[in-house]
Amino acid sequence: MLVSAKEMLQKAKAGHYAVGQFNINNLEWTKAILQTAQECNSPVILGVSEGAGKYMTGYKTIVGMVNGMIEELNITVPVALHLDHGSFEHCYKCIEAGFSSVMFDGSHYPIDENVAKTKQLVADCNAKGISLEAEVGSIGGEEDGVIGRGECADPNECKMIADLGIDFLAAGIGNIHGKYPENWEGLSFETLDAIQQLTGDMPLVLHGGTGIPADMIKKAISLGVAKINVNTECQLSFAAATRKYIEEGKDLQGKGFDPRKLLAPGAEAIKATVKEKMELFGSINKA
Ligand code: 13P
Repeated sequence: MLVSAKEMLQKAKAGHYAVGQFNINNLEWTKAILQTAQECNSPVILGVSEGAGKYMTGYKTIVGMVNGMIEELNITVPVALHLDHGSFEHCYKCIEAGFSSVMFDGSHYPIDENVAKTKQLVADCNAKGISLEAEVGSIGGEEDGVIGRGECADPNECKMIADLGIDFLAAGIGNIHGKYPENWEGLSFETLDAIQQLTGDMPLVLHGGTGIPADMIKKAISLGVAKINVNTECQLSFAAATRKYIEEGKDLQGKGFDPRKLLAPGAEAIKATVKEKMELFGSINKA
């Protein structure tokens, strides 16, 4: 059964580790991530962007697939199904479809509008036991064609949004989606520290988990980050393993062209990436 991400992230924050959000794009990814979470006895959050939702034909398909896998793969660790960077409208579509968690990304609205929309979602999500993530300060890089700069959030605005009753908060601290540029200045721990001091027990979320050095990840966790999002790194490992399989001509040997064989090395690569992240984030055996 899907669970809200509220409790798992409160436990993570109190226990000084982070739960990984791994974005899903298809059946193979979903299966690989769920199996790894079970093997590692780790809680896990499956992230779905609006683009990935559309690609997989819609949110109801995804809910059906994930619920089916939890039952048929005997997954007993806590699993949350979470909308990633949702618009106001899509948050409601996901709530209706059966997601257990949503992120409302109102960071591009003026703060008053972000507050008003977040407030309405807090009331509706609370009533249904669905966890809600909100965002302050845009996270840079490209995601589904939207490009941001990677600014640092204003800690006072973070407190304003946190006080509305959301369950976890994504705050820009210089992090960006996708690969980090050579001249990236690193995470702003000063900003993170100020946000944590004002928001207290609120679990904080670090987006753009791909390519952040391990020491920075550990420091971010020590300053209150309890959820870390990873997408690009799974895409890169999946693509590299698939390319290797084809370059070695394995797709032309025997029944190597069978999609179940063709996609298997990519799925194995995702498993390895997810396991490595769970080790780094400290969520192994925390189910
Ligand atoms: P990366 O693609 O950089 O891993 O970021 C994922 C993310 O933050 C999804 O919201």
